[in-house]
Amino acid sequence: MKEQLEKIEALAKEELNSCKEIKALDDLRVKYLGKKGELTAILKQMGKLSAEERPVIGQLANKVRADIEQAITEKVAVLKADAQAEKIKAESIDITLPGKKQSLGKLHPMTVVENEIKDIFMGMGFNIADGPEIDDDYHVFEALNLPPDHPARDTQDTFYITDNILLRTQTSSVQVHVMETQKPPIRIISPGRVYRSDAVDATHSPLFHQIEGLVVDKGITMSDLKGTLEMLMKKIYGNNCKLRFRPHHFPFTEPSCEVDISCFNCGGKGCSMCKDEGYIELLGAGMVHPKVLEGCGIDSNIYSGFAFGLGLERMVMGRYDINDLRLLYENDLRFLEQF
Ligand code: DAH
Repeated sequence: MKEQLEKIEALAKEELNSCKEIKALDDLRVKYLGKKGELTAILKQMGKLSAEERPVIGQLANKVRADIEQAITEKVAVLKADAQAEKIKAESIDITLPGKKQSLGKLHPMTVVENEIKDIFMGMGFNIADGPEIDDDYHVFEALNLPPDHPARDTQDTFYITDNILLRTQTSSVQVHVMETQKPPIRIISPGRVYRSDAVDATHSPLFHQIEGLVVDKGITMSDLKGTLEMLMKKIYGNNCKLRFRPHHFPFTEPSCEVDISCFNCGGKGCSMCKDEGYIELLGAGMVHPKVLEGCGIDSNIYSGFAFGLGLERMVMGRYDINDLRLLYENDLRFLEQF
């Protein structure tokens, strides 16, 4: 039996030397040391041995097992190291190759200008307010002094979900939400999407963006409105731009005005962009109508306020000399990459 054991050890080591893969070593372990392996087969015959022989052979068998085990472990380590070295060799980096260019995305011009406007207003102590795009008739029209059948509703036809629930046509609805939930002093702007049932052309879209502004406090006057808007426009369009306040009518402000800016293109001389006017209309504004304040539970004898609503698309188009609104929505990279 002693010779048998020594023969097994010799055979196993010989086979081990020719193993080139870890998988082959696993097979080898099973073949010699496994439950049905050759070493185990011999150990099963130990019962036939005499009492003196048994410990001697037992000891030898354990030594043979440990030796084979160790030889396999060492060989596994060698094979692994070889494989690693092979891999490193194959993966060597050519540091003379040019790097791969990462193309970075950037902000849409609408987002750039919106962020700029937000920054300017936050610098003046305004908060950013948010309101629902799907709203009810009361917040979009009635609370803003536009009762049913008011003729001014005609210019703001929209998409109705029910007779009472609709897509807002103006961010002015946020004024109402804010005044219902906050007490003066109030100083907010509210950028967001608005909807009107308009056909698409170079200056119209059924979905566009407005930024609403609202200030309510004691002693607020039209000069606060003027100063605020002048600050905004000078920061965006430069110190040379001039504002023109024209009387106008909005049901929710009294007095009301429209605000024009000297033409970005000709600076006020008159050109095709401003239709020889020298000015371009930018926004509507005014002093918040006492009825609107009272409807929101604010005492109009103590408080007054101003409000304005500007079209973001128009600001962006003026800023970057864009002559077709549709370009802003098409997401054509050839257009967007210019900014
Ligand atoms: N909501 C008006 C519109 O969409 C714009 C506007 C005018 C907003 C006057 C105001 C305002 O806050 O005071 O045409």
